Amino acid sequence: MKVVVVGSGAREHAFASALSRTADVVVTPGNPGIPSSVATPPEELEADLFVVGPEAPLVAGLADRLRDRGVAVFGPGADGARLEGSKAWMKQLLVDAGVPTARHGAFDTLEPAVAFLDTLSGTYVVKTDGLAAGKGVTVTADLEEARRTVAAFLSGEAFGDAGRSVVIEEGLIGDELSVFALCDGTRVVPCGWARDHKRVGDGDTGPNTGGMGAYSPVPEVSAGLVDRVMDEIIEPTVAALRRRGIDYRGVLYCGLMGPLDDLKVLEYNVRFGDPEAQVILPRVTSDLAEHLMAAAEGQLREAPTLDEGAAVTVVCATEGYPSAPRSGDAIVGIGAAQGIEGVEVFCAGVAAAPGATGKVDPHAIEDGALVTAGGRVLSVTGRGSDLTDARRGAYAAVEKISWPGMHHRTDIGADLT
Ligand code: AMP
Ligand code: GLY
Repeated sequence: MKVVVVGSGAREHAFASALSRTADVVVTPGNPGIPSSVATPPEELEADLFVVGPEAPLVAGLADRLRDRGVAVFGPGADGARLEGSKAWMKQLLVDAGVPTARHGAFDTLEPAVAFLDTLSGTYVVKTDGLAAGKGVTVTADLEEARRTVAAFLSGEAFGDAGRSVVIEEGLIGDELSVFALCDGTRVVPCGWARDHKRVGDGDTGPNTGGMGAYSPVPEVSAGLVDRVMDEIIEPTVAALRRRGIDYRGVLYCGLMGPLDDLKVLEYNVRFGDPEAQVILPRVTSDLAEHLMAAAEGQLREAPTLDEGAAVTVVCATEGYPSAPRSGDAIVGIGAAQGIEGVEVFCAGVAAAPGATGKVDPHAIEDGALVTAGGRVLSVTGRGSDLTDARRGAYAAVEKISWPGMHHRTDIGADLT
């Protein structure tokens, strides 16, 4: 089977690595650290299956355009991608489906928005309705700050047009959990669960990021609990999509929060998480390409099997990330890190070193062959028999990697070991 993976980050690298066990994989546009990256746009490539990694092209209708060519696509059309592309639409769908979620209101003018804030207590959560590169959420316990935030969003000052429509919701308390499922339009099967670390600093301090690390599985979460999430949350969501005439074929990433016996949906994403993909996909032991093809063709019968072990991924970021990431620093140690048993290094914000002679060999990356090009540069995954073992491998690998100003969290999965 020939598979085209669309995207350029560590998640797409993890997809490519897992798929290439059984399929011929090309990644577009990929990056110089991902094998078989090509610059040709997906619309001009031939393949049996297209797998779309990030949300932006899905929201923009890439899966529809590819399907119009008659090819199999794993990834929802623009209609289903509204689950992530419009939080107001997603929340209404959840209410219609009877799925538990934080109490909310959707607003595009200030007065009713502020009146709604006055009905909440505890913490106030203000979100852009549309995509804002993962940054459009403010959580505050201060009513005055919440009011200022709403005003800044609605005026366009904070996020431009993306902020002119907001969702305000009550703050939930508890740990977060990400549950992943594959959907073929009707049937839905579980595909692992994970927890990510969104804050930049150890101990969950500092600003929010795209994700600084993740681990899977989550020890206190049982398969039985995930079955309940499937039955009570994800299945009803798919049924509600169908009632709206939406044939959703792709990943459902369900972000949950709360005490384990009272989980509520925070968000749906229409793609795998990054960095969650980097701890789930390496654990898949069945034929991932077959599962994704079955979902794309409406023939999904079996859930992927994941190994009995665990995986931990640590994101290595550039100086200044998340506010002002610096680029252009030479990266050393990827090859040495990859030499550690059970370790995979997934490349995201990297570029070929300027002026270097010869092409970068993504299978054996030499010191200095790649330079930093973006905030989250590498995602270093360790696998092991349990989380302690996986964490040991991941951090032994991170120790080998360096560039000026590189930073990473030192406590990914630490509270568990
Ligand atoms: P979202 O993009 O909706 O997942 O929000 C990003 C992050 O903001 C989440 O991962 C949570 O950490 C936090 N967050 C979002 N909604 C809530 C909520 N209702 N209560 C508490 N924290 C929230
Ligand atoms: N890890 C969070 C996300 O992918 O949205």
